[in-house]
Parts: sequence; C-alpha cells; structure tokens
Amino acid sequence: MEQVFFFIFLFFLTLSIFLTILAKASETKRKKMPPGPRRLPVPILGNLHLFDANKPQHSLLSLSNKYGPLILLQFGSIPTLLISSSDIAEEIFTNHDLTFSNRPALFVPKKLLYNFSSMAFAPHNDMWRQARKIATLELLSLQCVRSFEVIRREEVEKLVAAIKDVSVANLSKLTLSFSNNVVCRVELGDEFGDGGKEGVCLHELIYETQSLLGSFCVADYFPGMEWVDRLRGFHERLDKHFEKLDKFFDRVIQEHLKCREEEEGSENIIENGDKQQNDFVNILLGRHKVAVHHGGFLSNIDHVKATLLETFMAGTDTSAATITWTMTELMRNPRVMNKLLEELRQATDGNARRLIQESELEKLEYLKKVIKESLRLRPAAPLIPRETTQLCEIRGYIIPANTRVVFNAAAISTDPNVWERPLEFWPERFDGSRVDFKKREFEFLSFGSGRRKCPGFNFAMVVVELALANLLHCFDWSLPDGMKAEDINMDVAVGLTAHKKEALRLVARPKW
Ligand code: HEM
Repeated sequence: MEQVFFFIFLFFLTLSIFLTILAKASETKRKKMPPGPRRLPVPILGNLHLFDANKPQHSLLSLSNKYGPLILLQFGSIPTLLISSSDIAEEIFTNHDLTFSNRPALFVPKKLLYNFSSMAFAPHNDMWRQARKIATLELLSLQCVRSFEVIRREEVEKLVAAIKDVSVANLSKLTLSFSNNVVCRVELGDEFGDGGKEGVCLHELIYETQSLLGSFCVADYFPGMEWVDRLRGFHERLDKHFEKLDKFFDRVIQEHLKCREEEEGSENIIENGDKQQNDFVNILLGRHKVAVHHGGFLSNIDHVKATLLETFMAGTDTSAATITWTMTELMRNPRVMNKLLEELRQATDGNARRLIQESELEKLEYLKKVIKESLRLRPAAPLIPRETTQLCEIRGYIIPANTRVVFNAAAISTDPNVWERPLEFWPERFDGSRVDFKKREFEFLSFGSGRRKCPGFNFAMVVVELALANLLHCFDWSLPDGMKAEDINMDVAVGLTAHKKEALRLVARPKW
C-alpha cells in the first residue's frame, strides 16, 4: 500500500515540475521583444535605410519620436536597442548597470587600440577594471588634475596671444589646439603639435584617428563581410595610419626611456613624484616595468600605447567641442552673454588686466550653469554605445545578451516630458536645480552614467571653465562681415565627437 502512495506522490511531483517548466517556457515566449520599425524585405539591410549617417543623432531622434523611447532596430545583421528617455535610462543604470556595461567590439577601435588593450572600448572585464583604476589614480583624480594647473595656465596664455594675433579667430581650430596641447603636455611631456618637436605633428595624427573612428565600417554591421572594407581601400588606410601612430608612440616611449636611463637612478622620477618630469608616459612605463613580471594590465607595451592614445582622444576633442559650442550659444544669446560678462567683471574686481586664475573659477556660478546648459543642448558625445552582457527584461520586453545598445544622450537631455522649453538655451533652468552631472542623475547623460561613466569629468571641466572665462574676460566678441546670430550654422559634424560642422569664426577685440 505504502508503495502505491509513493508512486502516486512521485507521479504528481513529476507532473507539477513538468507543468512549472512548461509555464515558465510559455511565459518567456509571451514576453515580447521591444517595438521598432518594420524591416525592409531585403533581410540583409534591416532598418539601415532609416538611418541617416550624415545626421545620426537626429535620425535616431525621429525614430524614437515615432516608435517610442525603447525600440529595437536592426542595423544590417546587428540588433540595436535605442534608448531615448531618462526614466528608461534610470531603470537601466539603477537595476541593470552590469548587464549594460559592455562596449560593442567595433572594427576601427579594435585595430587602433591594439585589440582593445585599454579602457574606453574594452569589454567589461578585469583588464578594463585595472585600466580604469590606473587612469583615474594617475591622471584623472582631482589631486592629479590640480597638479597640472601650471600647464593649463601657460596654454591659456598662448591661446589668448594667438587670438590677439589674428583679425578673425577660428575658434574651432584654436580651442582644439589648446586642448590638444594641454592633454599632450600632461600625458607626453611635450606639445608634439605645430610648435612641437620637428617632424612629429600629433594634431594631424589625431585628425585622421578621429576621422577613422567616425567612419562607417561595413564589418560593424555585417560581420563576415570585412572583404567589402578591404575592397574599398579602408583596411589599407587603417593599416597605414596605425603604423604611423605606432611609430609615433614608439618614439615617445624610446625618448622617455632614454631620459630615464640618463637620470641617475631613474626610479626616482616615479618615487619622488616630480610632476614636471613625471608625465603620464613615465608613470605608465614605471608600472609596465613592474607588470612585466606579474602579468595583467600594462604587462605588454601595447597596453601603454593604447592607454595613451585613448585618453588623448577622449580628452582632447570633447573639451574643445564643448568650448566652441558654448561660445556659439553665447553669440546667439546676448542676454546670457551680458549676464556672464557681468559675473566676470564682479569676480575680477572690475577690469583686471590679467588672466583669470583657477582659484577664481569657484566664484563663477553662472559660468558653470552656462557650461552645463551647453552640455545639455549640445553634448560632445551625444550617442553612447554599450552592449548587453546577458539576457534581461526591461519594461516587460526581453533584451537578449550581446544586443548592441545606443543611449541617445541628445534626445534624453531635450526630452519635453522632463525639460521645460527644452530647445532653449536657458542656463537659469539650473537655479536651485538638483540636476547635476556629477551625481547619478539621468535627465542628461553628457558624461554618461553607471560604472562606465566618463572618468575625465574633473579633467575636462577645469579646462573648459578656464578657457571660457579667459576668452570672455580678455576679448569683446562679434560676428564677422555683418553676419547675424541667426545666420550661424548649427549643423553637427559626423564623427565620434559632435563638433560644430562649420568652424566658428569670430572677431575678437582685445579689452586690454
Ligand atoms: C567635455 C568633456 C567630455 C565629455 C562631454 C565626455 C563624455 C563622455 C561620455 C558620454 C562617455 C561615455 C560614458 C558612458 O558610457 O556612460 C565618456 C567616456 C570616457 N571618457 Fe569622457 N568626456 C569628456 C572628457 C573626457 C576627458 C578629459 C577624458 C580623459 C582625459 C575622458 C576620458 C574618457 C574615457 C577613458 C571614457 C571611457 C570610460 C569607460 O569606458 O570606462 N573624457 N566620456
């Protein structure tokens, strides 16, 4: 009898397990994929025809306006999740940050960054963690950033002098040179720009690097079709450029090693913390020497080169673009310009005939709001690329593992459901506002969010604030040739960084 009961029990147990599994399976099936536009009947293209490569952020914005803030697009053979609202961004960064912490493995950064041997484009793994820790500790911390004050002051002096030399200042170019020089001196110990060491113009290398990073690459949308890029000569261009970059960094490293050998007890450079000598290359080489024996990040010299290139690329363009866009908005908004000039006059006790120092920036509260508003309306990195590491569920939709993700920061920071008068340049919106890109806020993602948030915030802000404060303190600005504010072309150039497409040319009349 007992045996019969046992078999009945076993039967019901098996049945209930079977039914639970069945219910779970059908529940997963019922859960939908996110909505999105219909794909072309030509399967290989998917939704690519809806994407305007010349105006990426705008074409993505019109797609999210039409289909919603969480949509799944098919770009070639790659499913791509597009996120365009702050509440979905908040849900992701609060509950699924780890799942969304990968970067897509794109073809050009893979090549130029020595097979992702650094941080920005690397997958979320231990190598990335070590790379981020070292860059933060040795280059981007508040303490490090403060120690570069002399370099910034000298470069601002040069920027002001260069503007005094010309009748019409090309601010796009001049601010790029300025931020290039700051980053170059901090990292490499020399400018390597137009006025740098003979035969090496890093500015030119950087332009081509940016251009390649912003190029459409067939392999990124149609894996297995790299041959198309090869046929159109893209690989040749990439290989040639990589060779030049590699040679450049080899030379920089060799020069640093030679200097270290010449210094008696070269280890002292690192240990004494002599900031003039101890540029980022020296610090990385010191760590490389140790890592060679222990393995891990920096054990290979390619890690040093990739880190230098990446922090250089990430730091230069974004700051220059932000300075240029802010000056552009100020020219279009005389009320804001006048209010800011008044703040500067008060902060410098009238008409001080000297440059504004970093110690004075703290007082310039309106300047900070102006920059914040500029970053909101014209984010230097408007499309933030990520990739999911595992399957997850957002708002009842299934998001498979390895889905490419794009956060449209430009759309989020102008979302009319969140922002009053979203397209207006109105810095007063931040009066008493809790929104701040330093905190975990999701209304605007100018520096991203979560564990992959931009680590260069401190580095960037002081460069941008110091340059803008002095540009406005030293010169009266006007538009050239009877041009009106409404004539300023606001188009955005295609590329990784959202530069102003047409250079900003302004007449600068020195105030003293
Ligand atoms: C106004 C200036 C800047 C803006 C607007 C900006 C914006 C951004 C954004 C949106 C991201 C992506 C964050 C994410 O995925 O959530 C990022 C990443 C990054 N930024 Fe910046 N950035 C600026 C300046 C800098 C500077 C000065 C540096 C270094 C010198 C820097 C280094 C990096 C690095 C290394 C990453 C990759 C971080 C990672 O993947 O873990 N950035 N930046």
